[in-house]
Amino acid sequence: MGIFKREKSNKENVQSKSENAADKPLDSNATDNPPASNATDKPSDSLLGQVEADAVGSVFPSALYYPHTREGRVYVIENAQETHLDPNECPLPPYPLRLGYGYDAKQGKWFDERFLKSGETVTNRMNAALSADGFSVPAGGRVLEIGCAAGRLTRWWLPRAQDVEVWGVDLRADAITWCQQYLAPMNFITNTTHPHLPFEDNHFDLVYAGSVWTHIGDLADSWYLETRRILKPGGRAFITIFDDHSMETCMTKGEGDVVSEIQKIDDSHGILSKNYGMVVEGTSLQRTRVIHRTEYIRRKLEAWFEVREIVPEAYGWQSALILRKR
Ligand SMILES: C[S@@+](CC[C@H](N)C(=O)[O-])C[C@H]1O[C@@H](n2cnc3c(N)ncnc32)[C@H](O)[C@@H]1O
Repeated sequence: MGIFKREKSNKENVQSKSENAADKPLDSNATDNPPASNATDKPSDSLLGQVEADAVGSVFPSALYYPHTREGRVYVIENAQETHLDPNECPLPPYPLRLGYGYDAKQGKWFDERFLKSGETVTNRMNAALSADGFSVPAGGRVLEIGCAAGRLTRWWLPRAQDVEVWGVDLRADAITWCQQYLAPMNFITNTTHPHLPFEDNHFDLVYAGSVWTHIGDLADSWYLETRRILKPGGRAFITIFDDHSMETCMTKGEGDVVSEIQKIDDSHGILSKNYGMVVEGTSLQRTRVIHRTEYIRRKLEAWFEVREIVPEAYGWQSALILRKR
């Protein structure tokens, strides 16, 4: 057993200050704010509070990520690892690491099957869109998910983990430690907010990120270029963003509080009437939200990639950019 307890059932559990509380307007896949804490999964709980506190106002909070609370001077990662090749059989992460996915706010309950299904749906949509673009990851190929958290999407690569080298990275060491323990034989590492990843040039066939650039305000361009560096020529990046289509869908179909959230930003900054290219709201690491005008991001990225497609509603209301490295 690793540092995190394996969840056996969908028993009552709660998540404290959820990262996804902030995600909600832009991540329609994620569910509503889980309730306030008496969570049993302490590591992530207290970590988030600490990271949040330390990250605010810090330009490079890159050394703040530990798989434990920062109160003690010693931490232990147990020598444990489980290997599964069936995404449905493999353990589910503890609730605090699920970032609200699979939580039903109205019922105040977590649903394991929703957590699983939501990840499978996004992964299937991505693979279908890539296939429509004439691309698939070959046997012997390499795939990287940036911002994988506790592997909600990555786990759907398990059936191919014998013939594809799969990697996941995230800023959250607590989630990455869990993935290392329970999602072997795939590979996971913690990265930082610096736009650098420890991989060689021209390394991956596919790099994807679901609802990550929707939270990267500073250094977003450098993250695109870092992604380009590690992609093989001809390889694809699949990156979801909140764009014109997302905004329109959100305003026409969105639930009341989602619309009012955007309305609030509009009231203070008048974004809806402005000819904006990119709107970054919030300065803290966990709570930044980024909205793009589709033509702005297309124009920018065309200088660096071949923009093959912008797929609407690829991830909830988020659209996905399919980028090809020339
Ligand atoms: C909304 S969650 C999505 C998690 C996962 N992609 C999914 O769909 O289940 C965003 C994740 O991106 C991570 N993240 C944000 N900026 C990042 C960066 N520069 N590098 C790696 N991970 C990042 C956050 O820590 C968080 O786990």
